[in-house]
Amino acid sequence: MSKQDYVLAIDQGTTSTRSIVFDRNAQEISSARQEFAQHYPEPGWVEHCPEDIWNDAKATATAALEKAGGTSRIAGIGITNQRETIVVWERATGKPIHRAIVWQDRRTAAVCQKLRDEGAEALVRERTGLLLDPYFSATKLAWLLDNVSGARARAEKGELAFGTIDSFLLWRLTGGKVHATDITNAARTLLFDIHTQKWDDDLLRLFRIPAALLPEVKDNSTIFGETDPALFGRAIPIAGMAGDQQAAVVGQACFAQGMAKATYGTGCFVLLNTGEKPVTSKNRMLTTIAYRINGKTSYALEGSIFVAGAAIKWLRDGLHLITHASQTDDMATRVPHSHGVYMVPGFVGLGAPHWDPDARGLICGLTLDATAAHIARAALESVAYQTLDLVTAMTQDGAGTTEALRVDGGMAANDWFCQFLADMLQVNVERPSNIETTALGAGFLAGLATGVWENEKTLASEWARGALFKPSMANEQRKTMIAGWHQAVKRTLTNPT
Ligand code: G3P
Repeated sequence: MSKQDYVLAIDQGTTSTRSIVFDRNAQEISSARQEFAQHYPEPGWVEHCPEDIWNDAKATATAALEKAGGTSRIAGIGITNQRETIVVWERATGKPIHRAIVWQDRRTAAVCQKLRDEGAEALVRERTGLLLDPYFSATKLAWLLDNVSGARARAEKGELAFGTIDSFLLWRLTGGKVHATDITNAARTLLFDIHTQKWDDDLLRLFRIPAALLPEVKDNSTIFGETDPALFGRAIPIAGMAGDQQAAVVGQACFAQGMAKATYGTGCFVLLNTGEKPVTSKNRMLTTIAYRINGKTSYALEGSIFVAGAAIKWLRDGLHLITHASQTDDMATRVPHSHGVYMVPGFVGLGAPHWDPDARGLICGLTLDATAAHIARAALESVAYQTLDLVTAMTQDGAGTTEALRVDGGMAANDWFCQFLADMLQVNVERPSNIETTALGAGFLAGLATGVWENEKTLASEWARGALFKPSMANEQRKTMIAGWHQAVKRTLTNPT
């Protein structure tokens, strides 16, 4: 048994960076968190400063390690990250050549439409399991190469490196020694064939991406490299990496085919483990890689909602209806129903199953006696309705019945929301005792590669249920509410059918 029985997880999300130390019982020993600036240079554009991301990762990791009594018990580090967000940096200096372009950024919507019009979507869908949407990395990367002076020529000469956030952090943590990514992050770029599990030449040609930019692709639980000793006082293996939604699959121990999780962060992402075989959706869900451990791949069907917690953040920072997210729980229970008020949070377009980058947000059904509580309730309800649309699409795809949905992330702490979700889905909603499952998943991956845990079975035994929500709403009432939601969605779509 390893004497080093702790792992450090760095969870680099869309609005904050968290570092958490876990022990071998999956208990949190210490943590540190830092929110960082969002940049919106034009409507629909979203950027992050890579130096903010790096400084916060370093600072939160240092703080969490100090609180945990130093590095002596740390067996390895796991990194998990907001997916699809891209950084390009100089190999010689490690300096980014532009701000990171974030997954929510819509600047390449027209390029995607053009490629769709030219009939490119079939190839993309077949090789990557994804769709042509500005959400994914490839068109953002091409935009950057075309818009930063000299970037394309430098990329072709091999002077530049591309990475999603995992890859950028790995590069910085290893002092520029390792340029690699993991298979789940690679699978979100539109450049990676999820069947052959290699970067794909046809896709590189289609999106005009020089191969010299690309990182090496590895399993999720393996030694990626070691930290530069100058950072934390000694070299520590970086032993796990995964995109945040896939890390949550691991943290929720959804290792069996048919198990599903929904993570409520900035957006909400439902992933259903479909086992060794990729399932192609007829309902515009994504086919993606859940994880690859010891060379063995598990696939998932994914439904991606771009705005979940971000709707609650908007109630706080945009509308000033609340001062803290937790108030929405109280507000939602203060009113007996939403009073016919619906919110469709299409702030950055709509993701699955609509994939409409030009759709925008909407609040409808307002009457003079509608209150802030109704709007808050409508915001929470909208996230549950969107989850329902995803789970319905997956069920129609015949991807195995979801007997229960495991939930995590910030909104999962809201009891009212979890109950409403169970009522809408008509399935049990299970909340683990630790809702920081994304970080835990990254910790698990690092601990598997360094002997803290033995195998997936050991990890599954660490999963503990904190609360269970059972459906209890009358079906007629449920159906009426859902019909109202679908009408509201129709009003936001640019091409309603
Ligand atoms: O695909 C984007 C996703 O990885 C972002 O996750 O947790 O920042 O909402 P989150």
